[in-house]
Amino acid sequence: MKTITVKDKQFTLSITAAQIDEAVNQVAGNVNRDFEGKDPLFLVILNGAFMFAADLFKKLEIACEVSFVKFSSYAGTQSTAKVTRLIGLNEEIKGRNVIIIEDIVDTGITMGYLLDHLKDKEPRSVSIATLLFKPDAFQKGYLIDYIGMEIPNNFIVGYGLDYDGYGRNLGEIYKIV
Ligand code: IMP
Ligand code: MG
Repeated sequence: MKTITVKDKQFTLSITAAQIDEAVNQVAGNVNRDFEGKDPLFLVILNGAFMFAADLFKKLEIACEVSFVKFSSYAGTQSTAKVTRLIGLNEEIKGRNVIIIEDIVDTGITMGYLLDHLKDKEPRSVSIATLLFKPDAFQKGYLIDYIGMEIPNNFIVGYGLDYDGYGRNLGEIYKIV
């Protein structure tokens, strides 16, 4: 079994490049089918989704736009509670068919925050495309339109996903030992 070290932890190969490619193909095929002529605007959630987004876009054959957003957490001035802000959303959302691109939906809290934020901007529709989904960790009720692969509730790195900032460059996905 292929084992690697990222920072101070050991990880073992879990999802191969071929399996990732198959999952990306499946999502791309469904998006191509569903959004032909709908001029979607993709919103990629940085940092984790950058690699999935790059591979996905090469397989999209429809007219579309793409923009990149990011959550930034910072300590509030009044208390130590964490406040989450969304940065980088410069595009006009009103009336657009928006497709959110995420590397992984885990508890679903991050995506839930973005969905709430987008609602106020009156998009025509909002869809979600995630490479990975952990059903056993999901705490929310919203529908996820496109899922590349469902995975067990283990911590993983690679293909954009990090452990403490490291491991995003790995071309395959590894799970913690
Ligand atoms: P959620 O808000 O719990 O759904 O988590 C979403 C974010 O947490 C993802 O966009 C990832 O950046 C990160 N995340 C969740 N699970 C993992 C994991 O197993 N490895 C690395 N990052 C993860
Ligand atoms: Mg992420």
